[in-house]
Amino acid sequence: MTAAGENLRINPARLWDSLMEMARIGPGVAGGNNRQTLTDADAEGRALFRRWCEAAGCTMGLDQMGNMFARREGTDPDALPVYMGSHLDTQPTGGKYDGVLGVLGGLEILRTLNDLGIKTRHPIVLVNWTNEEGTRFAPAMLASGVFAGVHTQDWAYARTDAEGKTFGAELQRIGWRGEETVGQRRMRAYFELHIEQGPILEAEGKDIGVVTRGQGLVWTQVTVTGKDAHTGSTPMPMRKNAGLGMARILELVDEIAWSHAPHAVGAAGHIVVHPNSRNVIPGTAIFTVDFRTPDLDVLRDMEARLHKGAREICDRMGLGVAFETVGGFDPVTFDADCVAAVRAAAERLGYSHRDIISGAGHDACWINRVAPTAMVMCPCVDGLSHNEAEEITPDWARAGTDVLLHAVLETAGIVE
Ligand code: GLV
Ligand code: MN
Ligand code: MN
Repeated sequence: MTAAGENLRINPARLWDSLMEMARIGPGVAGGNNRQTLTDADAEGRALFRRWCEAAGCTMGLDQMGNMFARREGTDPDALPVYMGSHLDTQPTGGKYDGVLGVLGGLEILRTLNDLGIKTRHPIVLVNWTNEEGTRFAPAMLASGVFAGVHTQDWAYARTDAEGKTFGAELQRIGWRGEETVGQRRMRAYFELHIEQGPILEAEGKDIGVVTRGQGLVWTQVTVTGKDAHTGSTPMPMRKNAGLGMARILELVDEIAWSHAPHAVGAAGHIVVHPNSRNVIPGTAIFTVDFRTPDLDVLRDMEARLHKGAREICDRMGLGVAFETVGGFDPVTFDADCVAAVRAAAERLGYSHRDIISGAGHDACWINRVAPTAMVMCPCVDGLSHNEAEEITPDWARAGTDVLLHAVLETAGIVE
């Protein structure tokens, strides 16, 4: 077994071309992407990814959640594979790199290993996880969650989108439901490359984030119930305005998050008001509060204060209120050896780096439960993500992928 030399690098131009080619599938309206999970665009992106993997000599596995696994053989048939990957689905107004860099960076690694005739003892498997974003079917990281045994497959199949279509039916419809039992694979390790989606690395001029931990999250869907009534003729004291109740609860959400700042954040990005007519006082407001923090006690505190405070607000206003937890995971600590492999790779390659806590959720957060896991981050411009204007430089993509290459090779073992 030999160590990877510092001159071993990926082909950055080929990586960039692949990113741009994938971005042509499911274009957004402002230069980014709308390739939401289990849409026709998702199917098209998957087909392109499969063609690329097969052209790189890999065999493609597909499980019953639509997770795709491209395998490059190792020299030892008994050695557990080293996994790498991320997701190809996007937000409705998503960027070209969130998730996609981790998948296509992995593809570039497979191609580089082929170019250089490098053999590894452990097989290497590249994954595209289904429905990381959770925007069409909540929660986020749905298929990696089933893989890790957090959700049952039946529950995942029953998730519905805004039109009432189920995850299971849509997976079948686009033709990407496989036969393989979900979660049966054992991993030597899992590495995920991702853009930071925050401002720290760029502000500090660092090429690489060595991700040591991930924030925990709780998504609480709140339903406030009042009474639809005429906006003109209903006297103020007689109103049961669910929209106003929601507004007051959203102020509370902001206050709760600020009370733990800078180590916690909170907002509601999903809001539906019924009947959403200009001259009807809203009778129902449904919205999802997203609280995140690396500290489990803080997460529980924020959730409890939301329930108590929202109930008080609604009682005072004569409104009904109900809560449903629609997603969540506890803060994550990644595997020390895998994290060390990422840090050592950045050092060996001469890239500037710092340890960082992931602000976003990632499939790695679930896979960490069933395999030694770590993540590599690269900067993104202005820390902007979940926005079509999300941008990275080719040099950032290159550095992140080089580090992923070296961390994977160190773990998979190069064979002379
Ligand atoms: C996933 O993108 C999340 O962090 O919500
Ligand atoms: Mn992502
Ligand atoms: Mn995302």
